[in-house]
Amino acid sequence: MKKIALAVMGVFVAGGAYAGAPDWSKVTERKVKLFYPGQAGLEWVMNKADHSAVPDIVEKKRACSKCHEGDANEIGDKIVAGKPVGSSKSVLEPKPPAGKVGWIPATFKAAHDGEKIYFRFEWVPPKNGDVKMDKKNEVKLTMMFDGGGTVEQADLNGCWGTCHNDLRSMKDGKDDKKTKYIKGASLDGGKFMDLMQFRSGKGEKPVDGYITDKRYMEGGKGLVKAEGVKEGNKWVVTFERTLAGGGKGDHAITPDKVYSFGFAIHEDYTEARYHYVSLNYQFGLDKTVEGVKYYYNVTKQ
Ligand code: HEC
Repeated sequence: MKKIALAVMGVFVAGGAYAGAPDWSKVTERKVKLFYPGQAGLEWVMNKADHSAVPDIVEKKRACSKCHEGDANEIGDKIVAGKPVGSSKSVLEPKPPAGKVGWIPATFKAAHDGEKIYFRFEWVPPKNGDVKMDKKNEVKLTMMFDGGGTVEQADLNGCWGTCHNDLRSMKDGKDDKKTKYIKGASLDGGKFMDLMQFRSGKGEKPVDGYITDKRYMEGGKGLVKAEGVKEGNKWVVTFERTLAGGGKGDHAITPDKVYSFGFAIHEDYTEARYHYVSLNYQFGLDKTVEGVKYYYNVTKQ
């Protein structure tokens, strides 16, 4: 009885946005620091001369989150201000955007009901500036995940396997159409990142795509809804997706696996690399994983 009442209330409050979704107040929350990465692509973070941690990543299998969950905010603050970072003292933002904050605190939640999985992201937007790169969308939220160990090193670096120095807006970018890719990707072998995106612009549709040799913004059949509402001074974005997926570039989400993921927010009408990103995280269904702080147990509601 109580559960029904709450569900109905959810629908009422959000104007239908939560129909079918879990009672989020009962779902464990995970705070995540999203930071401004500048031009810290895969080739930079995996180059020892730039980043002294490379041997630890490669040989000891240390994940980005393991070392940087605590200081991701400081990293973002330094990079966005154009300060030199890493052991090579690289400037990873050659043109520091005026007034842009270095990081945003976000809250992540996820739950499932045996058929569908639900993700929820909440954050307070920073102040908007005058420049509008993407005129249509004030906000975009994108989540990527692998197929449970199917993308090499995704368990260590989340989305970094898709982020390269030769992409548009990156340091060696020559082609302003070049989007994310994974080296040696294959759809058949599961070596791809599944992608879901919410866009805030009027009339924009949820994006259910994937990343292989480039970023595809369609093909998936798993994403049922991608919605966002501004509740007071914060954004709340939710995804509703079937566990089975079933489309092109959809990973099936099954209880036997642990999935690596990351997410990014394009705030303030930005595009390309001018976003805030999470470090690597992992999720599984009704499964505890001891000793991995960046793991989130998605429980059945
Ligand atoms: C073993 C711990 C460790 C791991 C794992 C690690 N880093 Fe680092 N990272 C460091 C240290 C220490 C620095 C400081 C500069 C240096 O030594 O290169 C740093 C610097 C950075 C910087 C520049 C900011 C600064 O303050 O210098 C970025 C960006 C960065 N790391 C991103 C990443 C990403 C992305 C990953 C995962 C692919 C990662 N790091 C994995 C330890 C780590």
